[in-house]
Amino acid sequence: MKIYLDTANLEEIREVARWGILSGVTTNPSLMAQEVGADFEDTIRTIAGLVDGPISAETVSEDADGMVAEGIEYSAWHSNVIIKVPSTPAGLEAVSRLGTMGIRTNVTLIFNANQALMAALAGAFVVSPFVGRVDDMSHDGMELIREISSIFEQNPDIRTGILAASIRHPRHIIESALAGAHIATCPYKVLKKAMQHPLTDRGIASFLADWHAREASMAMQP
Ligand code: G3P
Repeated sequence: MKIYLDTANLEEIREVARWGILSGVTTNPSLMAQEVGADFEDTIRTIAGLVDGPISAETVSEDADGMVAEGIEYSAWHSNVIIKVPSTPAGLEAVSRLGTMGIRTNVTLIFNANQALMAALAGAFVVSPFVGRVDDMSHDGMELIREISSIFEQNPDIRTGILAASIRHPRHIIESALAGAHIATCPYKVLKKAMQHPLTDRGIASFLADWHAREASMAMQP
């Protein structure tokens, strides 16, 4: 399973890109709104320069014509730009029309396996089931990933990727991988947490203490 960052914050992207684990970035209007004063086009172009992989840029139109127009505009910014559209009938139409132009799409706000199947049949490059928001409704977000994975595996004609979104904690990353997601798009804070373990910190402290004690004892020898 690949890891994407779910952010429009350039510093977060720069840092995680240096780790060598980053395969792409997803943005959405809410994440863009957190970057006060940032221009959308500049942000997407800059991200595309930092990460060599798919960068999702989300449309804000509610009709297919508008989504297609936005998709044509955004996809001209960089060849790695993927057009994010909502899981609605208009979104499906936009996926289908953009697909005929060779423009790749990410169908977002997926909350059931039917929505994922329809998006795949319309030709989506990836679908984005929102696992955290499903959990918020007292359902099982990972069961949604498992259902979609099983349906896609039983239909070899489907090449659409499963991009687990609305990842809220490190356990969601592990479970997404086990459930068959191809990608998990993670907030920066969740990725940082996923790399933390007190035994790692304690182990480093203990190794360093032993090393410095050894050096001190060697320095005492004639
Ligand atoms: O990728 C979608 C994500 O940004 C939504 O996350 O935590 O707002 O449900 P959340």
